[in-house]
Amino acid sequence: MAGFGSVFMPEMTLARFDGERWSESSFVPSDSLSFHAGAHGLHYSSSVFEGLKAFKHNDGSIKLFRMDRNLARLTNSSELLSLPPIDVALVEQMIISAVRKFADQTPEPPGSMYVRPTHIGTDAQIGAAASPSETSVLYILLSPVGNYFSGGDRPLRLLVEEQGMRCAPHMGMIKSGGNYASALGPILQAKKTWQADQILFCPGGDVQETGAANFLLIDGNEIVTKNLDPSFLHGVTRDSLLTLAAEMGMTVSERALSVDELVDRVANPDCEAALSGTAAVLTPVGTLIRNGEEIQVGSGEVGPTTLKLRQALNDIQWGIGEDNHGWLTPI
Ligand SMILES: Cc1ncc(COP(=O)(O)O)c(C=O)c1O
Repeated sequence: MAGFGSVFMPEMTLARFDGERWSESSFVPSDSLSFHAGAHGLHYSSSVFEGLKAFKHNDGSIKLFRMDRNLARLTNSSELLSLPPIDVALVEQMIISAVRKFADQTPEPPGSMYVRPTHIGTDAQIGAAASPSETSVLYILLSPVGNYFSGGDRPLRLLVEEQGMRCAPHMGMIKSGGNYASALGPILQAKKTWQADQILFCPGGDVQETGAANFLLIDGNEIVTKNLDPSFLHGVTRDSLLTLAAEMGMTVSERALSVDELVDRVANPDCEAALSGTAAVLTPVGTLIRNGEEIQVGSGEVGPTTLKLRQALNDIQWGIGEDNHGWLTPI
């Protein structure tokens, strides 16, 4: 199976904002996109995106998971980067028509159709670093994806980074490519030096998130994760798992978590840690690397609560469990 996100549907829905209003959306080929080489989004990173999934159920129906939350985040990201305003009804309709067109190519669970709404500032103005783009293009790219865990449930190794940040503190909650580019250098270094899978960014000892997923500490009946603030991405998976955990009777603590507390608690053999995200769902963390020292998280293996929470989430997404929260949208 090709790597996650490297296969695309041949067409996508696209709309443009001309400075005053959105065009109607239309299907266009997904292998090329036209805008000026001086586009604001290319030079000054006025560009945001989203990631959500559509799942095929046993009865053949296709359901989008928590589209409203991703649209709210897209709206927010666009606003915070001074991009033109999102027309939520338009984008919703663009997502639904794209997913519907390629419904028969949606993989069976554990696969899904990954949906990538993208919004880019298109003003051809390379002298406009300090002013926003008045025009933009928005498109919905589709990529069928397989099982993220096809290589088995190998617990991840995370380098604990207590000085550097993933991105500027006011940018963390914005889903923008610049944040990922900003984290790339340190992540590549961590892979090379420590064979780490990812960096756990903890500036000043404050446990935030990794390069592309949120971090959850699961200790007995308590689940601890950083409270929402602008410094990190407010994951939809994080929110969903916390909701399910509370319903299972777990104590959900959304609060500051220090590296010292984290290191103390993972010494408990029953402690678990995991990364949450649309792609990763809930991926176990087996090792933390701090100041050159390797610290095993609990047993070092995937734990029962991680598996239970992931199953509960997958059951809803796959139509096996009851969707009590209205998280699924039929297409
Ligand atoms: C930096 C970062 N944090 C967290 C997440 C998790 O967010 P979500 O659960 O909405 O996919 C992502 C994306 O998947 C991300 O890129």
